[in-house]
Amino acid sequence: MALLDVSNLNIQFSTNSGPVFAVRGVDLSLERGETLAIVGESGSGKSQTVFAMMGLLAANGVASGSVKFDGTEILNAPPQVINPIRADRMAIIFQDPMTSLNPYMRVSEQMAEVLQLHRGLSKRSAIAECVRMLDAVRIPDAKSRINLYPHEFSGGMRQRVMIAMALLCHPEVLIADEPTTALDVTVQAQIMQLLADLRRDFGMALILITHDLGVVAGSAEKAIVMYGGQIMEKGPVDALFKDATHPYTRGLISSIPRVDRNDDLAQFHSRQPA
Ligand SMILES: Nc1ncnc2c1ncn2[C@@H]1O[C@H](COP(=O)(O)OP(=O)(O)OP(=O)(O)O)[C@@H](O)[C@H]1O
Ligand SMILES: [Mg+2]
Repeated sequence: MALLDVSNLNIQFSTNSGPVFAVRGVDLSLERGETLAIVGESGSGKSQTVFAMMGLLAANGVASGSVKFDGTEILNAPPQVINPIRADRMAIIFQDPMTSLNPYMRVSEQMAEVLQLHRGLSKRSAIAECVRMLDAVRIPDAKSRINLYPHEFSGGMRQRVMIAMALLCHPEVLIADEPTTALDVTVQAQIMQLLADLRRDFGMALILITHDLGVVAGSAEKAIVMYGGQIMEKGPVDALFKDATHPYTRGLISSIPRVDRNDDLAQFHSRQPA
């Protein structure tokens, strides 16, 4: 049985100008330890797909279909079913860490709260565990930095704090919704490497939402390509790169810069100042 099994997921929003069909007929599955990438242009339904899985749709949204986590139906499930799974077994990190961290609380307080609530740890042992997790996401001098407020961290370090927080309960699935778009390119690469290392160390499955097919090639086993709320293409990443049929996927692939092709390299060099 797959760890996560989504079938015929449909999401509809009601708006003043009528219904918006944001996601239609999405099927996907995720095995333990696997990485699935969700790619697609802005507005194609990537975030709403995972929000629906986590029970995080906006109030005007309705989802239908099925989302099974380890055999349990969690789509539109009551709090007593979804709450023990959400955060404990499935966690999500968002694009902009500032929107999910409380700016008025020290990082130590907000992180420790998770373990006090979900694991019943004492404040003291919760803090000790949080420091270990900040070490694991390679925040230097975690023991003293844990006492800072979120704005006192750089963007990249803040995203590391979010990742550490998501991992506190050792989830079986981590969903990363464009975790690096707010960061500069070097920091993006570091965070992607960190996610790959953590997935291996924690034996987690990962759903990675990204615009960047370059990232997909380096870190996912399989991918789905979304367009207009539907899945246009899905499969193992190497096959997808070789045999993409949908023009949108082909367009995405051809837009990845290739340093191994001489014509591209020549073009690149011709653009450099002498
Ligand atoms: N609360 C809402 N009410 C109405 N429409 C919504 C609502 N939330 C999302 N949508 C619509 O659902 C569609 C899918 O949105 P979604 O957030 O999943 O896009 P996305 O693929 O994650 O895009 P991006 O790459 O920009 O994050 C969009 O057309 C969006 O406008
Ligand atoms: Mg999104």
